Amino acid sequence: MQATARAGSNIAFVKYWGNLDEEMRIPVNGSISMTLDAAHSTTTVEFRTDLTSDHFILNGNVAGARATARVSRHLDHIRRLSGTELSARVVSQNSFPTGAGIASSASGFAALTVAACGALGLELSRTDLSRIARLGSGSACRSIYGGFVEWLPGNEHEDSYAVPLAPPGHWDLVDIIAIVSEEHKTTGSSAGHPLAPTSPFYEARLQELETTLSGVRRAILAKDFAALGQLMEAEALFLHVIAMTSTPSILYWQAGTLNVLHAVRRWRQEEGGPVAYFTMDAGPNVHVIAERATVPALLPRLRQVEGVQDTLVCHIGHEAHLLDRQ
Ligand code: PMV
Repeated sequence: MQATARAGSNIAFVKYWGNLDEEMRIPVNGSISMTLDAAHSTTTVEFRTDLTSDHFILNGNVAGARATARVSRHLDHIRRLSGTELSARVVSQNSFPTGAGIASSASGFAALTVAACGALGLELSRTDLSRIARLGSGSACRSIYGGFVEWLPGNEHEDSYAVPLAPPGHWDLVDIIAIVSEEHKTTGSSAGHPLAPTSPFYEARLQELETTLSGVRRAILAKDFAALGQLMEAEALFLHVIAMTSTPSILYWQAGTLNVLHAVRRWRQEEGGPVAYFTMDAGPNVHVIAERATVPALLPRLRQVEGVQDTLVCHIGHEAHLLDRQ
């Protein structure tokens, strides 16, 4: 009763920020993302008769009590579906350097879901897998699919899941992650969602969201990079304004963050300069989105920006899948 699965992380162009139901991770708004190949998690789940509790090894080390409890709670949902009470040994490895400040919960919970369901022989639809992955980490529901993906927010467990918008081969976009801080963030996204409604800008964003979602959907389908770029930058700034103006305030930006934002905009103004747009998750690192042909001109410049410690080039990733089942 063992299986190994791999899932890519994802970068959202329209963000998930705030829940209708914290426990079930039912979001207040829909979101749209692109699945990433180079930032992925590979997870093995083995259900065993000789264990009395779940064990979780993350990047080669025994995980802490909180991380293990979160994995256990997630496995409980899957155990209930299959009727087993067996404990599991979970071994998960991220492709990106540990502590690089790149969020791993999306790829981690998508891979955990597919591996655990595979190990228990549960034959579930992609929609079911997406719903279950959502319970571990909201954004994980989008990592069940490859390419461009939309999370339909719904109102309850049954109708809150992701659907594919366009396959990986649809459009050759890249996400160059400019790492400006490797520190663990002080406020993770799970702690950030409940604070969102305390910002005076929260309602203002929600009022614009349907327009943003349809604009991003349209730009992806039409491969209109300028339209997608303008919308994604505005949306990333909106998310961070909400975080900054929440009570308590969350300030994710570092000096290097701001250097990258300015550089990306400056290059766009330059005659013949590399055209790219930025977005950010709940952290200080900047995701610089470009068409693949731009990478040779963009990457050396990005590496030179003051405060950029490292870069990780991600192409579009495929759906979460089983690598092995025994
Ligand atoms: O899935 P969570 O709870 O880690 O939240 C993700 C939040 C953002 O990364 C900021 C936005 C998103 O939609 O991925």
